[in-house]
This record gives sequence, C-alpha cells and structure tokens, in this order.
Amino acid sequence: MLKHLALTNVGPANTLEMNLSPRLNLITGDNGLGKSFLLDVTWWALTRRWPQEVNQNLTSGYVAKPNDKEVPASIEFSLDSKTRTVSYTSRYSPRDEAWLGKSGRPWNPGLVIYAHADGGFSVWDPARNYWLKRGNVDVQERIPAYVFTPQQVWDGLTVDLNGKDARVCNGLIADWAGWIREKGISAKRMQTLLNNLAPSDAPSDQLKVAPSLGRLSLNDSRDVPMLRTPYGVDVPIVSASSGVKRIVALAYMLMWSWNEHRLAVKELGEERATQVTLLVDEIEAHLHPKWQRSILRSVLDLAKVMHAQASVQLIAATHSPMILASAEPLFNAKTDAWFDLDLVKGKGTAMHVELSQREFVRRGDISHWLTSNAFDFKEARSLEAEKAIGDAFKLIRGKSKNEVDILRVNKQLRDALGEVDRFWLRWEEYRQSIRGAK
Ligand SMILES: Nc1ncnc2c1ncn2[C@@H]1O[C@H](COP(=O)(O)OP(=O)(O)OP(=O)(O)O)[C@@H](O)[C@H]1O
Ligand SMILES: [Mg+2]
Repeated sequence: MLKHLALTNVGPANTLEMNLSPRLNLITGDNGLGKSFLLDVTWWALTRRWPQEVNQNLTSGYVAKPNDKEVPASIEFSLDSKTRTVSYTSRYSPRDEAWLGKSGRPWNPGLVIYAHADGGFSVWDPARNYWLKRGNVDVQERIPAYVFTPQQVWDGLTVDLNGKDARVCNGLIADWAGWIREKGISAKRMQTLLNNLAPSDAPSDQLKVAPSLGRLSLNDSRDVPMLRTPYGVDVPIVSASSGVKRIVALAYMLMWSWNEHRLAVKELGEERATQVTLLVDEIEAHLHPKWQRSILRSVLDLAKVMHAQASVQLIAATHSPMILASAEPLFNAKTDAWFDLDLVKGKGTAMHVELSQREFVRRGDISHWLTSNAFDFKEARSLEAEKAIGDAFKLIRGKSKNEVDILRVNKQLRDALGEVDRFWLRWEEYRQSIRGAK
C-alpha cells in the first residue's frame, strides 16, 4: 500500500505531494494533467519497475523523465511493506537515465495489479517477482513483473527468462476456454466474477457464458469462449463489445493474478500476500453510465472477497461524474480520499498544474458533479446553452431593458434550451420584471 508520494521536477507539476488513503483513492483532472502519470509513478514506487521498461511493446508507462535535466529531480515515497512502513527518496541520474534505487533487497508491497487505460495490464506478485536468496546472497533472477499489452492479455505472454522463452501466461482466450472445457471450479469462479461485475442482477445485464466453445474461422483452430447475448445470439468473446471486453479482461486478470499467486505461495510454502494494491486508469473506460454506476463498488467488493485476508487499496483515475456520484454511498473520509489535478494561474500569466486533496461532499445529482470543482463546468448543458445562459445572466445582472438584446438572447435560449428547462423560470421572471418596470 502506498502512503505518500512527493515529486520534484518531474511530471506535469514541478512539485506535487499526495497522502494516500488506505482504501479508495480517486484521481480526477482534465486530459493531460497527469492522472495516468501518477498511476505509473505509483506502480514504480511499489514495484521499482516502469511498465514500458519491462515490456517494450507497451505504448505507455515510460520511465519518468525530469522536466529540467540540470536541476535535481526526485521521487519520494513511503509505503507499507510486508513488515513495516518504509520511506525512500530516489533521485534521477541523467548519466544513467535512471532513478537510483536503494541497494539490496527492495521492499515487499504485496500484490500490485495495474489496469492501464488502453486495456493492457501490469502485475507484480511478491511470490513470483520478488528476489531469490542463494545461500546468503540476494539475487534477482525472477521475472521483474508481468506486463501485458492489450493483445497479450488475450493471446498470452511469453518473456525472455535467462535467454529462453518462457510462456508465463496463456492469455484470456486459451485459459478461459480451458476452464470451460474442464467444467470445473475455475469456470465457475470466472462466471461468479462476471456476475459480480455486472451492473445489476437483471438477466439482461448479466454476462452469460455459452456452454460450448466456438471457432472464429476455418483457419483458426483455437476454441474460443462464447458469450450468450441478451438477444439470444452466441458471440465469440473476441467479437464482444468494447465495454464487455474491458470487463472480461478485468475479471480475467484479477482471476489470473489471484490464481497464480495462490499456486506460487503453495509451491513456495509461503503465506499469501497481506496487501493488494489495485491501480485502475480510466475506470469508466468503454462503459455505459449504467455500468459506470456500479463498477467502483464491484471492483472494491471483488478484490476484498478474493483477497479476504489482505488489505485492499484501490487507486482509480476517472473522467466520469457518474463514477464520483457512484462513490457517494461508499466514501468514508477515514479510509478514502479524492485528489483533483487542476491547471491554475500562478504569478503573471504562467499556468501550472496543481494537485489538491478535495473534501468529498455528497452532491447527489450528477449534474452537480459536473459543475463542481471536479469538472469545473459552468453549466451541465450543451456549449450553446451555456453561452446563452451566460449572456442571459449578463442582462439579468445588468438589469438591462434593451429590447434588442433581450430578443437576441431570447432567441439564443430558444435555440439551445429544451422547453422544460428550469432556466426558463428565471428568464421569464426577469422579463416580467422588465415589463412591470415599464
Ligand atoms: N514518462 C514521463 N516523464 C515525465 N513526464 C511525463 C511522463 N509521462 C507523462 N508525463 C507528464 O504527464 C503529462 C501527461 O499526463 P497523463 O497522460 O498522465 O494525463 P492524464 O491526466 O492521464 O490525461 P488523459 O485524461 O488524457 O488520459 C505529460 O504532459 C507530462 O507532463
Ligand atoms: Mg490518462
């Protein structure tokens, strides 16, 4: 579990500090302000690997580079390791193009799972990625982490291990097809995961797996899991919708990392991880609002059920007011936190990025989230409606009686607002007051 992060001269803000909460951490902010970057740095602080360094086919998760090479850059963090809370400051070495690490055995943060925005995943398992002891000497001969491109999640991951190809994961299609063929506990578990991730118990919202496997074409000999759609057609999982694929991939990676961890600790005669950190970028990616409304709770509940003996920390980046609204009944200021990245004006005209921890207050209506400091909308309406209402307020505040202006804005409002828009009341009240004054 990550507790604290402080960055200097790296990333979108020249200095940035974050005190994370033990359970749920939400990160909001406009495009390009550093949400994914913060998740990359979090992953690095916990595992000491940059995802793209481990798997060069990734198109994100690159090594963080200082903003100004001539000024010292640092990443300071503290985390709960298996045995105690530890803190460290890593400095960037331009000569090595790397962040310097503490020598010797790194800390063990427990299981770390990172769902990237594009559908890739990174997994760090203390049983399978941690250092080995040879006699009294620590050696890092294990795979440093499991980092999957979106395609490798589906087709499997092969890595170079001591000069030889090692098939470390068979991928969603082959594993899931194998579980369905076996008709055993794994297929049942996968179905339970999917049931729990569904937006509701309604039959039309459930992801149902067809009993038999299918084929994609005569030239493809792979047996592929099929999903039974609510309209009664069986669709190969690769042809499912983007939203369904995102959920299925999430379910599979949770299942794969949990399964493999369980098997590995058994093999090693060790205890299961007592901490799990889940990083999810764009938790709403591809999901309809109905699904966005349930995903946060589903992921928290699932992780807690799968890792019953572990403490689970979820750090999720989002663009969605629905996700924030859905957090209202879950949010507890003692265990949870909300961070918001903003572009703010400093001295003069220069803009800079600032991270603030905001108080999480229940706003109820989703449109109130859109107009909150999470999203900074002036109006939860179309751009045209926002402009028309802005112009209307200028007249109202100026108590203008100019008939030409009033008719012009009236037309703007008529063009942009629906007939039942609540703003009409305000506008009519103003027009009446003008008429009365005449
Ligand atoms: N490897 C890196 N080294 C240094 N800075 C980086 C690195 N990767 C990203 N950044 C910083 O992060 C910014 C991009 O932010 P990021 O991709 O995290 O935005 P985001 O908030 O996730 O946006 P979106 O909502 O569009 O996904 C870059 O402009 C840069 O300042
Ligand atoms: Mg991003």
